[in-house]
Amino acid sequence: MLKKNSRIFIAGHKGLVGSSLVRRLSTHGYNNMIVMSKKKLDLRNQNKVKNFFKKNKIDAVINAAGTVGGIYANNKYKADFIFDNLSIQNNIIHSCYENNIKNLIFLGSTCIYPRNCKQPIKESYLLTGELEKTNEPYAIAKIAGLKMCESYNFQYKTNYKCLMPCNLFGPNDNYDLEKSHFLPALISKIYNAKIKNNKTITIWGSGKPKRELLFVDDLADACIYFLNTRTKETLINIGSGIEMKIIDYAKQIMKEINVGLNIRFDFSKPDGTPRKIVDTKIAKKYGWKAQTTFKEGLKITYADFLKSIKQK
Ligand SMILES: NC(=O)c1ccc[n+]([C@@H]2O[C@H](COP(=O)([O-])OP(=O)(O)OC[C@H]3O[C@@H](n4cnc5c(N)ncnc54)[C@H](OP(=O)(O)O)[C@@H]3O)[C@@H](O)[C@H]2O)c1
Repeated sequence: MLKKNSRIFIAGHKGLVGSSLVRRLSTHGYNNMIVMSKKKLDLRNQNKVKNFFKKNKIDAVINAAGTVGGIYANNKYKADFIFDNLSIQNNIIHSCYENNIKNLIFLGSTCIYPRNCKQPIKESYLLTGELEKTNEPYAIAKIAGLKMCESYNFQYKTNYKCLMPCNLFGPNDNYDLEKSHFLPALISKIYNAKIKNNKTITIWGSGKPKRELLFVDDLADACIYFLNTRTKETLINIGSGIEMKIIDYAKQIMKEINVGLNIRFDFSKPDGTPRKIVDTKIAKKYGWKAQTTFKEGLKITYADFLKSIKQK
């Protein structure tokens, strides 16, 4: 259980999830957050992480740090995705154990589940089939982190939790087309087409894969909720239940940006998993549920996107 003055270390506080955690924790009245820039503390460095944990009396940890990206980056930088994520999570999880920190949230993603598993995806489908090839190294790193938390819970009686969110969106996302996920990539493409007076945008693949999206503040609230909740399960899915085809997300963004564009499809690019929606019965059993509609989340996200462009 957290107290308002508990010392909570947010790893990756500048990222999409980390920055949302900082916002939401302070909204909820938590006043003792610990954050460190990557420059000062490279979480891949075992010695530095060990010393950092030893020096700071930390009560709880949320690991939102990692090498993260969309299908392009995952496919191109496979070595970085596996090495960085394994190193960061090994250092953080083991340091929690060494410093007697019982409260840790480890974040993974739904790509840990088999590519062709039944939908909605239940936690029990883990390791029942082959993974999606385009992000296999990342997924394997995340599965290792989850198994590490499970093993520590079993052997050392910790209560580490692994939350597996569906695709996320929100303020402070990455709009770099090489690294971004599909939603920020769509926002950026559609906005640029409008500014340049282009009539067409090109979408990777067929536009048909279905994706579930969760507003990032809802995930941050889930992290806070589960830091305060003792659970029997280590692995818990976090989703919104909002599911659309990629092409339909593009149409909704055009509506928000107030532009009508033709959509062309680049079939030379991969589609990725055909459908991904998570079963959130376990999270709901403990009383957690997403609160934000896609329309509300998109409004906030687009306003933040415009602000970030003006700052450049
Ligand atoms: N985005 C999604 O759609 C999504 C979906 C499901 C799950 N998740 C999970 O949520 C977590 C956070 O994702 P995100 O989207 O917030 O990623 P993000 O925006 O890329 O943020 C990652 C953060 O980690 C930090 N970081 C990376 N390498 C580091 C290192 N070696 N040492 C210290 N800090 C380091 C980055 O610091 P710098 O800013 O200084 O580089 C950044 O602040 C990940 O575990 C991811 O699997 C994300």
